[in-house]
Amino acid sequence: MGGFRLVSTDGKRTHPLDDSMMVIGRSKEADLRIDHPSVSSRHCQISRVNQYFALHDLGSKNGTRINGSRVSQAYLSPGDLVQVGEIVFRFECDGDAKTSPLTLADASGGKVEDGLIIAMERVSVAAEAAHYYRHTDLVVKLALDLAKELALDAADVAALRLAAVMMDTGMLRMPGDTLKKKGPLTAEEKAEIERHPVYSVEAVADLGFPKEATNAIRGHHERWDGKGYPDKLAKEKIPFLARVLTLAQAAAAMLSNRPYKAKSSAPEVAKELERGAGTQFDPKIVPAMVKVVASQK
Ligand SMILES: [Fe+2]
Repeated sequence: MGGFRLVSTDGKRTHPLDDSMMVIGRSKEADLRIDHPSVSSRHCQISRVNQYFALHDLGSKNGTRINGSRVSQAYLSPGDLVQVGEIVFRFECDGDAKTSPLTLADASGGKVEDGLIIAMERVSVAAEAAHYYRHTDLVVKLALDLAKELALDAADVAALRLAAVMMDTGMLRMPGDTLKKKGPLTAEEKAEIERHPVYSVEAVADLGFPKEATNAIRGHHERWDGKGYPDKLAKEKIPFLARVLTLAQAAAAMLSNRPYKAKSSAPEVAKELERGAGTQFDPKIVPAMVKVVASQK
């Protein structure tokens, strides 16, 4: 691969890109610091994914744009104009090295891909209203906040987002009677509910999800002590993003009003998460989740 860089449109600043992740923002800790009021402290990041460069917005206030379209994530192609707040750079490379995969993101600067994820999220929200109590928006938000806290790379963040949106799609296959049942479930009903992560994976088959995303979907009810489902995996045998997702969904459930329990305060949730460290949750990730919960408004 040739050399890659971001060049400011006035030609005055050139920033080479290499294998290390580059955070762009106004903060002093940013790898590429832009001291401009339109730029958030951690605005976006660019990281190498195989032979490509992926850009990911980090929840910035003014958004990150590629060739004028606002994106949350996208691959960069030579000549792309990357706009961070009001500051514009051009992505350049030497020679004609291949720089982006042939996906819809190519043609749309990530817009179509983003649109599909948003569409899936809306379907998921509609499904929960009809069938099953959950809280997609909050799970996704907490999962992304936790990813930021753990400094996950752009590929993991993208996989985690897909998994957070789609993990309970399999619940749509559950009979409504079972989901709305007031009394205790029979062993058969319980076993069927515990198949929902498997059904969710089936629902996203052939959609091109990265395996990290499907592994996280399948493993989102596993427990650190091996008493979860569907595979009863324990500790590091549970895929990492599944352990991350488990914490995000547990925190989201406690921070929401549920039919059987009013929502808990942030300190109560933190206490519960700490209580579950080493039994339900990966004890190494719990402190980051506690920090995220404390920062929720
Ligand atoms: Fe689930």
